[in-house]
Amino acid sequence: MRLDPFRLERYFAKHEFSAPYLLCSSDCESMELGDLLALEPGASDRFASLWLGYTDSLGDPELRQAITTQYEHIVADQVLVHSGAEEAIYNFMNVAIGPGDHVVVQAPYYQSLGEVARSIGADVSEWPGDPGRAWELDLGFLASTLTPRTKVVVVNFPHNPTGFLPTSAFLRELSQLSDQHGFIIFSDEVYRGLELDPSDRLPAFADVNDRAVSLGVMSKAYGLAGLRIGWIATHDERLFRELAAFKDYTTICNSAPSEFLATIALRHTGNSWRLLHCGIPV
Ligand SMILES: Cc1ncc(COP(=O)(O)O)c(C=O)c1O
Repeated sequence: MRLDPFRLERYFAKHEFSAPYLLCSSDCESMELGDLLALEPGASDRFASLWLGYTDSLGDPELRQAITTQYEHIVADQVLVHSGAEEAIYNFMNVAIGPGDHVVVQAPYYQSLGEVARSIGADVSEWPGDPGRAWELDLGFLASTLTPRTKVVVVNFPHNPTGFLPTSAFLRELSQLSDQHGFIIFSDEVYRGLELDPSDRLPAFADVNDRAVSLGVMSKAYGLAGLRIGWIATHDERLFRELAAFKDYTTICNSAPSEFLATIALRHTGNSWRLLHCGIPV
């Protein structure tokens, strides 16, 4: 397995903390620890007495419960917490894909969404958005790209970097294609919650399709990238078990302080998905 350098991350490594003005962030402005703790009475004292041993490798039960508020039909046992979305992408690709499998990825794409599969020896096809039509995707194109070896189709809505957001009808049609052909939809939903009009928000794919995998994170809509807390939600029990076992070889478990803080943040955004502090009126 050989991964090509992650071009965007190499660029950030060089400039992110030295440029006087950062104009290319992909996440909301962050906040101070004290402001987050102030959201919940008693949280500061509980944080100070937090136990710093290993944590539950699936994720803290309270955090997993808090994450379920982002879904309609997902329960805590179907949520696997990771260190950021990036670990979840890496682990999913390693578990779900083998050499010679075929993967289709919406393009352009955050590099790891295609690169990890490629490094495993999968054939990766791009499913390009149409720049002339606000980066719309053509389901007919996808159908003609599928082969009997297609294992996974990767989508990212709202899309980085174009902002493309399809309709719910599109989601249902994609879900039907997945049922007909048997591929897994890996749905990167790290920007879910940042729709300009909340009524445009799509259901999470894990709520729509039993084989689909929804990817979420605290970094983007919540502006808490430094917590490095992400997760996968799916109804697929076998995939879930394999992902949990694979994580023993990456991070094993998450940071206890980060899990505590992510739980507080999620509890105070609730079902309404109001953003904590993005300057968007609640
Ligand atoms: C589409 C997309 N997926 C996943 C990630 C990774 O998120 P994180 O850095 O929180 O792991 C990013 C980060 O920019 C992203 O843009």
